[in-house]
Amino acid sequence: AEATRTGSKRVLLAKPRGYCAGVDRAVQTVEEALKLYGAPIYVRKQIVHNRHVVRTLEAKGAIFVEENEEVPEGATVVFSAHGVAPEVHEQARARSLKSIDATCPLVTKVHQEAKRFAAQDYDILLIGHEGHEEVVGTSGEAPEHIQLVDGPEDADQVTVRDPDKVVWLSQTTLSVDETLETVARLKKRLPLLQSPPSDDICYATSNRQHVVKQIAPDCDVMIVVGSTNSSNSVRLVEVALDAGARAGHLVDFAREIDDAWLDGARTVGLTSGASVPEELVQEVLAHLAARGFTDVEEVVTADERLTFSLPQELKRDMRAAA
Ligand code: F3S
Repeated sequence: AEATRTGSKRVLLAKPRGYCAGVDRAVQTVEEALKLYGAPIYVRKQIVHNRHVVRTLEAKGAIFVEENEEVPEGATVVFSAHGVAPEVHEQARARSLKSIDATCPLVTKVHQEAKRFAAQDYDILLIGHEGHEEVVGTSGEAPEHIQLVDGPEDADQVTVRDPDKVVWLSQTTLSVDETLETVARLKKRLPLLQSPPSDDICYATSNRQHVVKQIAPDCDVMIVVGSTNSSNSVRLVEVALDAGARAGHLVDFAREIDDAWLDGARTVGLTSGASVPEELVQEVLAHLAARGFTDVEEVVTADERLTFSLPQELKRDMRAAA
Protein backbone atom coordinates (compact mmCIF):
# COMPACT_ATOMS: atom_id res chain seq x y z
CA ALA A 1 0.00 0.00 0.00
CA GLU A 2 2.90 2.31 0.82
CA ALA A 3 4.31 1.89 -2.70
CA THR A 4 0.99 2.85 -4.28
CA ARG A 5 0.70 5.81 -2.00
CA THR A 6 4.00 7.22 -3.18
CA GLY A 7 3.57 6.23 -6.85
CA SER A 8 1.75 8.26 -9.48
CA LYS A 9 -1.99 8.38 -9.43
CA ARG A 10 -3.58 5.77 -11.62
CA VAL A 11 -6.70 4.97 -13.58
CA LEU A 12 -8.03 1.43 -13.92
CA LEU A 13 -9.89 1.49 -17.21
CA ALA A 14 -12.47 -1.26 -17.60
CA LYS A 15 -12.85 -3.23 -20.80
CA PRO A 16 -15.37 -4.15 -22.14
CA ARG A 17 -17.05 -0.77 -21.73
CA GLY A 18 -19.17 1.51 -23.90
CA TYR A 19 -21.11 0.62 -27.02
CA CYS A 20 -22.69 -2.79 -27.30
CA ALA A 21 -23.71 -4.34 -30.61
CA GLY A 22 -27.35 -3.30 -30.18
CA VAL A 23 -26.55 0.36 -29.54
CA ASP A 24 -24.05 0.51 -32.37
CA ARG A 25 -26.69 -0.86 -34.73
CA ALA A 26 -29.41 1.50 -33.48
CA VAL A 27 -27.27 4.63 -33.85
CA GLN A 28 -26.10 3.52 -37.29
CA THR A 29 -29.71 2.89 -38.27
CA VAL A 30 -30.61 6.54 -37.66
CA GLU A 31 -27.45 7.77 -39.41
CA GLU A 32 -28.06 5.59 -42.47
CA ALA A 33 -31.73 6.55 -42.58
CA LEU A 34 -30.76 10.23 -42.57
CA LYS A 35 -28.34 9.65 -45.44
CA LEU A 36 -30.77 7.57 -47.44
CA TYR A 37 -34.07 9.42 -47.00
CA GLY A 38 -32.76 12.84 -45.93
CA ALA A 39 -33.76 14.88 -42.87
CA PRO A 40 -35.95 14.90 -40.97
CA ILE A 41 -36.09 11.35 -39.68
CA TYR A 42 -38.40 10.89 -36.70
CA VAL A 43 -37.25 8.71 -33.83
CA ARG A 44 -39.76 7.42 -31.29
CA LYS A 45 -38.15 7.79 -27.81
CA GLN A 46 -34.43 8.28 -27.32
CA ILE A 47 -32.78 5.91 -29.80
CA VAL A 48 -30.44 4.87 -26.96
CA HIS A 49 -30.39 6.35 -23.46
CA ASN A 50 -27.52 8.79 -23.90
CA ARG A 51 -27.76 12.58 -23.96
CA HIS A 52 -24.73 13.09 -26.18
CA VAL A 53 -25.89 10.57 -28.79
CA VAL A 54 -29.36 12.11 -28.91
CA ARG A 55 -27.98 15.64 -29.31
CA THR A 56 -25.53 14.58 -32.01
CA LEU A 57 -28.29 12.90 -34.02
CA GLU A 58 -30.56 15.91 -33.55
CA ALA A 59 -27.87 18.09 -35.06
CA LYS A 60 -27.87 15.78 -38.10
CA GLY A 61 -31.63 16.09 -38.58
CA ALA A 62 -33.25 13.49 -36.35
CA ILE A 63 -36.40 14.60 -34.51
CA PHE A 64 -37.08 12.76 -31.28
CA VAL A 65 -40.71 12.27 -30.29
CA GLU A 66 -42.44 10.40 -27.49
CA GLU A 67 -45.28 8.87 -29.48
CA ASN A 68 -46.28 8.05 -33.04
CA GLU A 69 -49.02 10.74 -33.02
CA GLU A 70 -46.28 13.38 -33.11
CA VAL A 71 -44.97 12.01 -36.41
CA PRO A 72 -46.57 13.52 -39.54
CA GLU A 73 -48.61 11.02 -41.60
CA GLY A 74 -46.47 9.16 -44.10
CA ALA A 75 -43.13 10.21 -42.55
CA THR A 76 -40.30 7.86 -41.57
CA VAL A 77 -40.00 6.81 -37.93
CA VAL A 78 -37.31 4.74 -36.23
CA PHE A 79 -38.20 2.70 -33.16
CA SER A 80 -35.53 2.73 -30.45
CA ALA A 81 -33.19 -0.06 -29.34
CA HIS A 82 -35.35 -0.78 -26.28
CA GLY A 83 -38.18 -2.29 -28.29
CA VAL A 84 -41.86 -1.49 -28.64
CA ALA A 85 -45.16 -3.18 -27.90
CA PRO A 86 -47.05 -4.62 -30.90
CA GLU A 87 -49.63 -1.80 -30.63
CA VAL A 88 -46.92 0.72 -31.52
CA HIS A 89 -46.42 -1.05 -34.85
CA GLU A 90 -50.20 -0.98 -35.36
CA GLN A 91 -50.39 2.76 -34.67
CA ALA A 92 -47.60 3.35 -37.15
CA ARG A 93 -49.47 1.38 -39.81
CA ALA A 94 -52.64 3.32 -39.07
CA ARG A 95 -50.77 6.60 -39.65
CA SER A 96 -49.11 5.21 -42.80
CA LEU A 97 -45.71 5.77 -41.25
CA LYS A 98 -42.69 4.17 -42.78
CA SER A 99 -41.24 2.45 -39.73
CA ILE A 100 -37.74 1.14 -39.19
CA ASP A 101 -37.36 -1.04 -36.15
CA ALA A 102 -34.01 -0.59 -34.38
CA THR A 103 -34.97 -2.86 -31.47
CA CYS A 104 -31.90 -4.74 -30.31
CA PRO A 105 -32.13 -8.36 -31.50
CA LEU A 106 -31.45 -9.46 -27.91
CA VAL A 107 -34.54 -7.56 -26.77
CA THR A 108 -36.54 -9.10 -29.63
CA LYS A 109 -35.42 -12.49 -28.33
CA VAL A 110 -37.08 -11.74 -24.97
CA HIS A 111 -40.27 -10.60 -26.78
CA GLN A 112 -40.34 -13.93 -28.59
CA GLU A 113 -39.92 -15.85 -25.34
CA ALA A 114 -42.78 -13.86 -23.83
CA LYS A 115 -45.03 -14.63 -26.80
CA ARG A 116 -44.16 -18.31 -26.75
CA PHE A 117 -44.82 -18.79 -23.02
CA ALA A 118 -48.00 -16.72 -23.21
CA ALA A 119 -49.24 -18.91 -26.07
CA GLN A 120 -48.72 -21.91 -23.77
CA ASP A 121 -50.75 -20.04 -21.13
CA TYR A 122 -47.90 -19.64 -18.64
CA ASP A 123 -47.82 -16.94 -15.99
CA ILE A 124 -44.76 -14.87 -16.83
CA LEU A 125 -42.84 -13.00 -14.13
CA LEU A 126 -40.92 -10.26 -15.89
CA ILE A 127 -38.09 -9.04 -13.68
CA GLY A 128 -37.37 -5.42 -14.56
CA HIS A 129 -37.65 -1.79 -13.61
CA GLU A 130 -41.14 -0.35 -13.59
CA GLY A 131 -41.68 2.20 -16.33
CA HIS A 132 -38.50 1.40 -18.27
CA GLU A 133 -39.23 1.44 -22.01
CA GLU A 134 -37.95 -2.07 -22.54
CA VAL A 135 -40.30 -3.44 -19.88
CA VAL A 136 -43.23 -1.52 -21.36
CA GLY A 137 -42.45 -3.01 -24.79
CA THR A 138 -41.98 -6.58 -23.59
CA SER A 139 -45.10 -6.48 -21.38
CA GLY A 140 -47.09 -5.30 -24.39
CA GLU A 141 -46.50 -8.66 -26.10
CA ALA A 142 -48.72 -10.45 -23.59
CA PRO A 143 -50.20 -8.07 -21.01
CA GLU A 144 -52.64 -10.73 -19.75
CA HIS A 145 -49.87 -13.15 -18.88
CA ILE A 146 -47.06 -10.89 -17.68
CA GLN A 147 -46.56 -9.38 -14.25
CA LEU A 148 -43.64 -7.17 -13.39
CA VAL A 149 -41.30 -8.04 -10.53
CA ASP A 150 -39.21 -4.99 -9.73
CA GLY A 151 -36.42 -6.40 -7.55
CA PRO A 152 -36.17 -8.86 -4.63
CA GLU A 153 -38.66 -7.00 -2.41
CA ASP A 154 -41.33 -7.35 -5.06
CA ALA A 155 -40.89 -11.14 -5.18
CA ASP A 156 -43.02 -11.72 -2.08
CA GLN A 157 -46.07 -9.97 -3.57
CA VAL A 158 -46.36 -12.27 -6.58
CA THR A 159 -49.42 -14.45 -7.02
CA VAL A 160 -49.89 -16.87 -9.91
CA ARG A 161 -52.77 -18.96 -11.23
CA ASP A 162 -50.87 -22.26 -11.36
CA PRO A 163 -47.51 -22.61 -9.57
CA ASP A 164 -46.62 -25.49 -11.94
CA LYS A 165 -46.80 -23.23 -14.94
CA VAL A 166 -44.76 -20.16 -14.32
CA VAL A 167 -41.58 -18.81 -15.88
CA TRP A 168 -39.41 -15.77 -15.20
CA LEU A 169 -37.97 -13.56 -17.92
CA SER A 170 -36.07 -10.31 -17.49
CA GLN A 171 -35.07 -6.94 -18.81
CA THR A 172 -31.69 -7.18 -20.60
CA THR A 173 -29.88 -4.53 -18.55
CA LEU A 174 -30.36 -5.59 -14.92
CA SER A 175 -27.83 -6.24 -12.21
CA VAL A 176 -26.83 -9.90 -12.61
CA ASP A 177 -26.44 -10.42 -8.85
CA GLU A 178 -29.63 -8.68 -7.84
CA THR A 179 -31.56 -10.70 -10.42
CA LEU A 180 -30.19 -13.94 -8.97
CA GLU A 181 -31.41 -12.74 -5.59
CA THR A 182 -34.86 -11.95 -6.97
CA VAL A 183 -35.07 -15.37 -8.61
CA ALA A 184 -33.95 -17.14 -5.42
CA ARG A 185 -36.65 -15.31 -3.49
CA LEU A 186 -39.29 -16.17 -6.10
CA LYS A 187 -38.25 -19.84 -6.02
CA LYS A 188 -38.81 -20.03 -2.27
CA ARG A 189 -42.49 -19.51 -2.94
CA LEU A 190 -42.61 -21.04 -6.42
CA PRO A 191 -40.25 -24.04 -6.43
CA LEU A 192 -41.28 -25.04 -9.95
CA LEU A 193 -40.54 -21.63 -11.42
CA GLN A 194 -38.89 -22.12 -14.82
CA SER A 195 -35.94 -20.08 -16.05
CA PRO A 196 -35.68 -18.41 -19.46
CA PRO A 197 -34.45 -20.76 -22.20
CA SER A 198 -31.30 -18.60 -22.47
CA ASP A 199 -29.99 -15.64 -20.46
CA ASP A 200 -32.16 -12.55 -20.88
CA ILE A 201 -29.59 -10.25 -19.28
CA CYS A 202 -27.44 -9.61 -22.32
CA TYR A 203 -23.74 -10.33 -22.83
CA ALA A 204 -22.89 -6.60 -22.82
CA THR A 205 -24.60 -5.97 -19.49
CA SER A 206 -22.93 -8.92 -17.78
CA ASN A 207 -19.49 -8.26 -19.28
CA ARG A 208 -19.52 -4.61 -18.18
CA GLN A 209 -20.57 -5.59 -14.66
CA HIS A 210 -18.01 -8.40 -14.48
CA VAL A 211 -14.99 -6.19 -15.17
CA VAL A 212 -16.26 -3.50 -12.79
CA LYS A 213 -16.50 -6.10 -10.01
CA GLN A 214 -12.93 -7.06 -10.77
CA ILE A 215 -11.46 -3.56 -10.39
CA ALA A 216 -13.83 -2.04 -7.81
CA PRO A 217 -12.01 -3.29 -4.69
CA ASP A 218 -8.89 -1.36 -5.79
CA CYS A 219 -10.71 1.88 -6.54
CA ASP A 220 -10.99 4.92 -4.29
CA VAL A 221 -13.64 6.17 -6.64
CA MET A 222 -15.37 4.66 -9.68
CA ILE A 223 -16.50 6.97 -12.44
CA VAL A 224 -19.12 5.59 -14.79
CA VAL A 225 -19.82 7.58 -17.94
CA GLY A 226 -23.51 7.33 -18.80
CA SER A 227 -26.88 9.07 -18.57
CA THR A 228 -29.15 8.89 -15.54
CA ASN A 229 -31.94 7.20 -17.55
CA SER A 230 -29.57 4.49 -18.80
CA SER A 231 -30.43 1.36 -16.83
CA ASN A 232 -27.20 -0.48 -17.50
CA SER A 233 -25.08 2.60 -16.66
CA VAL A 234 -26.86 3.18 -13.34
CA ARG A 235 -26.36 -0.51 -12.50
CA LEU A 236 -22.60 -0.15 -13.03
CA VAL A 237 -22.34 2.40 -10.21
CA GLU A 238 -24.32 0.09 -7.88
CA VAL A 239 -22.23 -2.93 -8.84
CA ALA A 240 -19.00 -0.97 -8.20
CA LEU A 241 -20.17 0.10 -4.73
CA ASP A 242 -21.34 -3.44 -3.87
CA ALA A 243 -17.99 -4.82 -4.98
CA GLY A 244 -15.97 -2.50 -2.75
CA ALA A 245 -15.33 0.76 -4.58
CA ARG A 246 -15.18 3.42 -1.88
CA ALA A 247 -17.25 5.86 -3.95
CA GLY A 248 -19.02 5.84 -7.29
CA HIS A 249 -20.42 8.51 -9.59
CA LEU A 250 -22.34 8.62 -12.85
CA VAL A 251 -21.48 11.47 -15.24
CA ASP A 252 -22.56 12.32 -18.77
CA PHE A 253 -19.51 14.49 -19.42
CA ALA A 254 -16.00 15.03 -17.99
CA ARG A 255 -16.94 18.55 -16.91
CA GLU A 256 -19.40 17.10 -14.38
CA ILE A 257 -16.58 15.53 -12.37
CA ASP A 258 -16.26 17.35 -9.05
CA ASP A 259 -12.62 17.84 -8.02
CA ALA A 260 -13.63 16.96 -4.47
CA TRP A 261 -14.31 13.37 -5.62
CA LEU A 262 -10.63 13.03 -6.47
CA ASP A 263 -9.33 14.51 -3.20
CA GLY A 264 -6.90 12.02 -1.69
CA ALA A 265 -7.73 9.38 -4.31
CA ARG A 266 -4.83 7.30 -5.66
CA THR A 267 -6.81 4.99 -7.93
CA VAL A 268 -9.80 5.95 -10.04
CA GLY A 269 -11.83 3.27 -11.82
CA LEU A 270 -13.36 4.27 -15.14
CA THR A 271 -15.98 2.64 -17.32
CA SER A 272 -18.98 3.55 -19.47
CA GLY A 273 -22.44 2.21 -20.11
CA ALA A 274 -23.50 0.35 -23.25
CA SER A 275 -24.97 3.51 -24.83
CA VAL A 276 -21.87 5.69 -24.39
CA PRO A 277 -19.57 6.72 -27.25
CA GLU A 278 -15.86 6.16 -26.55
CA GLU A 279 -15.00 9.84 -27.16
CA LEU A 280 -16.71 10.71 -23.87
CA VAL A 281 -14.47 8.26 -22.00
CA GLN A 282 -11.41 9.72 -23.71
CA GLU A 283 -12.47 13.17 -22.50
CA VAL A 284 -12.65 11.85 -18.95
CA LEU A 285 -9.17 10.33 -19.32
CA ALA A 286 -7.82 13.70 -20.47
CA HIS A 287 -9.60 15.41 -17.57
CA LEU A 288 -8.06 12.95 -15.09
CA ALA A 289 -4.60 13.21 -16.66
CA ALA A 290 -4.73 16.97 -16.17
CA ARG A 291 -5.23 16.25 -12.46
CA GLY A 292 -2.25 13.90 -12.13
CA PHE A 293 -3.91 10.58 -13.01
CA THR A 294 -1.49 9.77 -15.78
CA ASP A 295 -0.87 6.08 -15.18
CA VAL A 296 -3.66 4.34 -17.13
CA GLU A 297 -4.00 0.59 -16.88
CA GLU A 298 -6.67 -1.11 -18.96
CA VAL A 299 -8.13 -4.18 -17.29
CA VAL A 300 -9.63 -6.53 -19.88
CA THR A 301 -11.88 -9.43 -18.88
CA ALA A 302 -13.64 -10.27 -22.15
CA ASP A 303 -13.22 -9.90 -25.86
CA GLU A 304 -16.44 -8.73 -27.53
CA ARG A 305 -16.85 -9.28 -31.24
CA LEU A 306 -20.58 -9.50 -31.71
CA THR A 307 -22.11 -7.24 -34.34
CA PHE A 308 -25.68 -7.06 -35.64
CA SER A 309 -26.67 -6.27 -39.19
CA LEU A 310 -28.93 -3.28 -39.84
CA PRO A 311 -32.74 -3.72 -39.86
CA GLN A 312 -33.95 -5.60 -42.96
CA GLU A 313 -36.35 -2.83 -44.02
CA LEU A 314 -33.46 -0.34 -44.10
CA LYS A 315 -31.04 -2.69 -45.84
CA ARG A 316 -33.62 -3.33 -48.55
CA ASP A 317 -33.93 0.39 -49.31
CA MET A 318 -30.15 0.85 -49.16
CA ARG A 319 -29.70 -1.92 -51.73
CA ALA A 320 -32.37 -0.43 -53.96
CA ALA A 321 -30.70 2.98 -53.82
CA ALA A 322 -27.19 1.65 -54.52
FE1 F3S B 1 -28.89 -5.06 -26.82
FE2 F3S B 1 -27.75 -5.55 -24.52
FE3 F3S B 1 -27.05 -3.51 -25.89
S1 F3S B 1 -29.85 -5.89 -25.06
S2 F3S B 1 -28.88 -2.85 -26.91
S3 F3S B 1 -26.78 -5.64 -26.53
S4 F3S B 1 -27.23 -3.55 -23.72
